Amino acid sequence: MYKTTKEENEILTRTGKGTPMGEFLRRYWWPIGISAHLKERPTFIRVFGEDLVLFRDAKGKIGVIGAFCAHRRANLCLGDVERDGVRCRYHGWLYDSDGQCVQIPGEPPNSELKKESIRLPAYPVEELGGLIFAYFGPQPAPLVPRYNFLVGEGEVYITIQGFQNCNWLQCVENGMDPVHPSFTHGGAWPDIMSTEPELGFHETEWGMVYKAYRKTKEPGMLNYREHHLLMPGVSCGGSGGRYLSGAQAGTPVSAARWSVPIDDTHTMLMRVRFKPSDNPGKYEGDPFSKRWKPPQEFIVPYKEYRDSDAPVLGYPIPPLHFIEDGMVVDSMPPIADRENENLGPAIDDGIIKLRQMYLREVGKMQRGEDPKCIVRDPEKNKEIVIPAYEKWVPESERNLGKTAAVG
Ligand code: FES
Ligand SMILES: [Fe+2]
Repeated sequence: MYKTTKEENEILTRTGKGTPMGEFLRRYWWPIGISAHLKERPTFIRVFGEDLVLFRDAKGKIGVIGAFCAHRRANLCLGDVERDGVRCRYHGWLYDSDGQCVQIPGEPPNSELKKESIRLPAYPVEELGGLIFAYFGPQPAPLVPRYNFLVGEGEVYITIQGFQNCNWLQCVENGMDPVHPSFTHGGAWPDIMSTEPELGFHETEWGMVYKAYRKTKEPGMLNYREHHLLMPGVSCGGSGGRYLSGAQAGTPVSAARWSVPIDDTHTMLMRVRFKPSDNPGKYEGDPFSKRWKPPQEFIVPYKEYRDSDAPVLGYPIPPLHFIEDGMVVDSMPPIADRENENLGPAIDDGIIKLRQMYLREVGKMQRGEDPKCIVRDPEKNKEIVIPAYEKWVPESERNLGKTAAVG
């Protein structure tokens, strides 16, 4: 039976510079912010354990540079954005979007401290579909993949869905786990949750797909979920259709969720929802504007006794699917001890294939090859259509084989 060893778990979960997975993940573009949010103030971010400041200078150019000023290490997030960069709030050193120090107020021109010799780490940035993507890997950088949910015709909604106090991989694995909705999402989606779905898992050009069919209350009709995992950590599904009002017609809605490693035990979930223009449904209100905001530790020993003299025991989960996911995933150890798992060859086939795929693709990168889902050909990148969705289909349409258009 398949087991992930302790050593493999280390490889899969560690994202620091120089680690195998850390180097692998740096080969891809990652969303680190939302374009519309970045106005006149800089913000402090952390990606792969590296402290950075994100800003848009007054010329509109975005910078992602080391957070700590090269002078005496004040955090530049307190600074002011100017035409040519961000100015440190402490003694006014000015840095451009390439991290180059361009002004040291008070030092005379003949000083032996030369601004030209001062440079903070800086990373390339691109905006696409309302997101700010950054690239932390070696040059030449690949293209930012133009997925349909970023560039297709329709409405795009972007939310930072939450912050998890856990490793990035357990967030990703949740998206390749088609059994959990029956149990985890019984609160949010009580309608289709038969507990023994029929499953199919396949590798695709971009990552993996799972197909899951469940019986519904309507005889002869099945609930069909097709979820994709796009390397290195984008989960795509179609459950957002449940929050649409109006006729269900046209191209189904889809959503993508990036699990962005803040560090090895914290993860940001960036979600994009896409409603194609030929779909007449409407989102009323915005169920997705709610965040998953866990307290620093929401499960601690004797929590109820700390909080109250007359405790009500238990940990209620609000019936919203991304909060249900968030709480369950966060309830695992911050870096799950996979060597102690017992995986089911059928129910966990997706998890097993996913881990094997990561290890294989990391190996490819180490041999100097481009791993899966690195896009360099502009022709191929006009629009990458990912058929992730949830639909209700007649039993005669059941097909667990490899039918995905991206296969
Ligand atoms: S610490 Fe930034 S200018 Fe002194
Ligand atoms: Fe889920």
